[in-house]
Amino acid sequence: MSDWLIPLTVILVAVCTVLVVWHALHPVSFWLCVGYPLKTAHVYATWGNVALGCTLTRKRRRWRYTFDGLPVVGHATISLAQRRKVRRVQIDKPPRLGLIRPHRLGFRVNVTLMDGQTPDDYTARLSNLAHAWRVHSVRLVSSRPGRVTLLATRGDPLSEIRIPLLSEGLLRVRVGLLETGVPWLVDFRTVPHWLITGATQSGKSTLLNALITGLSAQPVALVGFDLKGGVELTAYGARLSAIATERAECVGLLNDLICLVKTRMALCRANKARNVWKLPEDLRPTPVVVLVDEVAELFLMAHKGEKDEIATTATALLRLAQLGRAFGVYLVVCGQRVGSDLGPGVTALRSQLSGRICHRVNDPETATMTLGDTDPAALDAARQIPASMPGTAIVVSDDGRWYRARSVYVSEEAAEAAASQHAQLAPAWADLLTGADTVTVTDAELEALAREGEPT
Ligand SMILES: Nc1ncnc2c1ncn2[C@@H]1O[C@H](COP(=O)(O)OP(=O)(O)O)[C@@H](O)[C@H]1O
Ligand SMILES: [Mg+2]
Repeated sequence: MSDWLIPLTVILVAVCTVLVVWHALHPVSFWLCVGYPLKTAHVYATWGNVALGCTLTRKRRRWRYTFDGLPVVGHATISLAQRRKVRRVQIDKPPRLGLIRPHRLGFRVNVTLMDGQTPDDYTARLSNLAHAWRVHSVRLVSSRPGRVTLLATRGDPLSEIRIPLLSEGLLRVRVGLLETGVPWLVDFRTVPHWLITGATQSGKSTLLNALITGLSAQPVALVGFDLKGGVELTAYGARLSAIATERAECVGLLNDLICLVKTRMALCRANKARNVWKLPEDLRPTPVVVLVDEVAELFLMAHKGEKDEIATTATALLRLAQLGRAFGVYLVVCGQRVGSDLGPGVTALRSQLSGRICHRVNDPETATMTLGDTDPAALDAARQIPASMPGTAIVVSDDGRWYRARSVYVSEEAAEAAASQHAQLAPAWADLLTGADTVTVTDAELEALAREGEPT
């Protein structure tokens, strides 16, 4: 017996060593060649039970070969129909599972919806599926009538973000990665205003750094509001066209921005254009991105005398959000909490900020305030972001779905360097106000932008 036991043990140990080394050296090829076929076999083999456990099956009547004919206690007679070996019985039919396709992060699979099912039925079962398939997470990545596509990821793609931060065309910045492995884009042309919330040290300022770095290289004007004494944004002063660090300055700067919007409105009216992008190329003004770090500071009242100033600020900010989108003024508002407790006007402002990014939060209300009444699972996901993964956030995308995402780490020094490098692109504030700013967005750039925006 020992004749074959020793060589067998040697072979087994050698095979295991090769597999372990292969996995350590090149996990992607290991996954494609070994992990993926095994996982596929496991998913197909267990799908019936998994679907039943997740209550995704439907009752169907099918012809089946049955072993019966034995009398059951209490039944005196057995009818002919009962004694039949092949008969129609009720079974639990699972939804049809399509071809399991390998993916860098795990695998993708289409599932055909059964009668009466909607994608929401699957969204509610994603964590059950992740446990059953022994994967890190399962996400519903797309749906078509009668079909959903699920992406199962083996590990957390957000544990380390290595993608380069990129400016992806005018007013578009790739700030990080979505959980689905797709770049996380902040696109002001699609979603003009953004609300970014999160507890202290959750990654809000780092995301602002990423945005500033990406936008610095673009023909846009940047304006900052930083009532924390200017500690956050002053460093990027070279690239900012204007910055307000005191309350009085804020009121003045907001009034200037409203004047700017009015000037652009008049320009559009005179040229019969509905928004600045429809203006002839030589008249098109520079887009302005307004960055507000810690919005609560704008609304907090130190003494009663500030009441009027705060009311003016709130009204001006709201007006800017309402009118800005058509006239090339975009808002990024950051805060730890952006709720009605900050005063009237905040809720109205929040409803204008359609892009939502919720970092780690300490209280469930902040998540609810930021993400609104989206899927309750999004709120749970926001609460579950660990403090050890700063920069991770729940993002409501323009397709209406929510995604877990993580921003790429951009240090203050890197953002400051980018701001200084592109300082010459900052239009002078006086020029912007008088409409004498150089026209920087050409038709060619717009066309390129439209092409980039096309689905691939
Ligand atoms: N995307 C990220 N990747 C890695 N570390 C991050 C990321 N975002 C933030 N951090 C870390 O968390 C710290 C706090 O981030 P910060 O943006 O200052 O938080 P906040 O402005 O919400 O208080 C940063 O100094 C950095 O070390
Ligand atoms: Mg901060």
